[in-house]
Amino acid sequence: MVKMVGKFLESSLGPELIEFHESVSGESGLHKAQELQPDIVICDINLPGMNGFEFCRRIHKPDFNATVILMSAYDENEDYAIQAKEAGADAFLTKPIKKGELLFVVNFILRIDTLNQTVLGKNQELQEDQRRLNDNLKDIIQMNSKLESQNTRISFMNKELAERFDSTVGLLTNIIELNQSQHRGHSERVAEIAVFIAQKMGLSQDSIESLRTAARLHELGIVSLPRDETVEEVFDEGKSRPVTSHPMVAEMLLKGFAGFEPVAELIRHMHENVDGSGKPDGLVGDQIPVGSRILSTASFYDHYMVAHPDNSILEALKKVEQSIGTWFDENVVSFLSDYALSQNQSGNEKTVSCSVFALQEGMVLASDIYSESGINLLRKGTVLDRDMVNKILKFNNVDPIAGQVQVKS
Ligand SMILES: [Fe+2]
Repeated sequence: MVKMVGKFLESSLGPELIEFHESVSGESGLHKAQELQPDIVICDINLPGMNGFEFCRRIHKPDFNATVILMSAYDENEDYAIQAKEAGADAFLTKPIKKGELLFVVNFILRIDTLNQTVLGKNQELQEDQRRLNDNLKDIIQMNSKLESQNTRISFMNKELAERFDSTVGLLTNIIELNQSQHRGHSERVAEIAVFIAQKMGLSQDSIESLRTAARLHELGIVSLPRDETVEEVFDEGKSRPVTSHPMVAEMLLKGFAGFEPVAELIRHMHENVDGSGKPDGLVGDQIPVGSRILSTASFYDHYMVAHPDNSILEALKKVEQSIGTWFDENVVSFLSDYALSQNQSGNEKTVSCSVFALQEGMVLASDIYSESGINLLRKGTVLDRDMVNKILKFNNVDPIAGQVQVKS
């Protein structure tokens, strides 16, 4: 019967699709199936040596993927189909076998098998894609780690560059003030005032940093003036608006250096007036860069304070306010008032004067320390350490410290 089934399938589906093998017993069938790994096993339930159900149970091993069709003669007292299902058979046919029914079942199995192969292939492709994705993910994680490391290095380099830039500006500020001992500390004070106003006005951090540098260097062009004109210039700012071209000299000196372009622009316009009567371009109101308007106001205020040491902060402020709408921007002056009032309050903070020889580690400077020749040695707010105290004492032997040192009590 099985041979007849095999021959029928071969002739119906073609030898290229069906290759038929036959075994004469259950035991030999198991060996042959293990050896050939067929796609379909067709088995009668009556076999020599074992029945088809046992054959079905024994052939189903984890690495065996064949579809098993059991067949049997009809018996009205037995439900062989249920027993076949329990034994693990994939299909059950009742003899006499109808050719159409057999072809239908075999075709169905072959189609399922093809689908399984397709799904298996897709699964392998998906697994390969997943493996590639995992590899890419590992590469990305490694690249991120390297980038983080490089960013950290760049951050350190940027910090170092910023510190070097700040030191260079500090050196220039010292050189500027060597010839202006009577205005010692003016540049740093103007920077403090200008930054205060810029922060209150909500300027960007980049704009604030450019303004801070412009304030520290705003009198760079004065080094080009003859000595007697220098003295006249710095004092004159407290009385009337200056007429010299030192802002343009500073602009020319600075604008050729990378990073100083915005600084040069702010200094160029620091003597413009909001009513258009200023120099060098006669700009009006908002045409004047806001940093230049701030710089102009802050510089005037501090020059006035230095030129009139007996006047109070409020009197200096009143002097500035008299020029709102002509020289100065009203908005800028309102924030200068905030600064002046905050200084008036902090002026009540207790400070003590002491000799350079009384300086000790841990003291906080209430004002900058300058040498007699005008060199700014340490800035206000610095907390002294042992090394700083020793260096100040040694410097004092070469270029004595000017006056008493103010420290916070
Ligand atoms: Fe100034």
